[in-house]
Amino acid sequence: ADYETITTRKQGAVTLVTINRPDALNALNTTVLADLIEAFRDFDGDEGQRCAVLTGAGDKAFAAGADIKEMADKPAADFYAEDFFAGWTEHFTRATRKPWIAAVNGFALGGGCEVAMMADFIIASDRAKFGQPEIKLGVLPGMGGSQRLARAVGKAKAMDLCLTGRMMDAAEAESSGLVARVVEHDRLMDEAMSAAEAIARMAPLAAIANKEAVDAAFETTLDQGIRFERRLFQAIAATSDKAEGMKAFIEKRDPQWTGR
Ligand code: HXC
Repeated sequence: ADYETITTRKQGAVTLVTINRPDALNALNTTVLADLIEAFRDFDGDEGQRCAVLTGAGDKAFAAGADIKEMADKPAADFYAEDFFAGWTEHFTRATRKPWIAAVNGFALGGGCEVAMMADFIIASDRAKFGQPEIKLGVLPGMGGSQRLARAVGKAKAMDLCLTGRMMDAAEAESSGLVARVVEHDRLMDEAMSAAEAIARMAPLAAIANKEAVDAAFETTLDQGIRFERRLFQAIAATSDKAEGMKAFIEKRDPQWTGR
């Protein structure tokens, strides 16, 4: 498909999606949202694609936030009428069942940080900077930032970041649990693509089930979550790929997944 504000490339079983508005530090406007929704729908629906990577074009930014120029004169009633920002959470979390990684190459601020947190995990360049600076604009996060940040890094740092609007560098983001890995800037895309390729080599249904199970930890009690995990395990045990995976281990060979 042809997109106005993003580029996509399918490399083997990995879809690479790049937000491509480098002159605006990849600020997220309505067109970016529409383009990303279509790209992720295409990825999720394509049986040949197993994992996606989302990054930002250029050396400076993953995304420096929702597009301030688009929001500046927008009447409050329009935000409400359009349920502004609802599409992001719906599409990048619930509607995308397959795993995807955010490769954060620079600023991930406001909506940029929020979209990165919607990923299944974040791999960051050592030049990455994270923050929720909305307070400086007289507002607050609007795509789940206050909730996902608090769950990821705890109350102390979430409050610190939201109330002061300060940025956190990659090292602080890693030590506080926001990002899974930090790598040298020039190695970011190699690292993210190999992580995605590793996931893409797993049994596809098991990948979806693992993602669903971990996500449940943020939605439910420990007891309910453990029960949910056990039921998923029992369901996945019925797949041919479970039989193949265990047989291949015993026969000391690589498994041949069918995705069923
Ligand atoms: C629109 C943006 C933008 C944004 C940067 N630009 N961020 N345009 N929306 N969020 C544009 C600038 O206007 C500028 O365009 C160009 O990108 C380069 O940015 P500079 O500011 O010149 O770069 P620099 O001096 O290096 O500073 C980088 C920066 C700064 C620290 C990241 O751009 C910045 O603070 N950006 C805003 C970050 C932010 O507040 N994000 C949260 C947005 S609110 P021109 O045309 O001048 O060259 C949000 C959710 C809101 O995400 C929820 C509300 C309900």
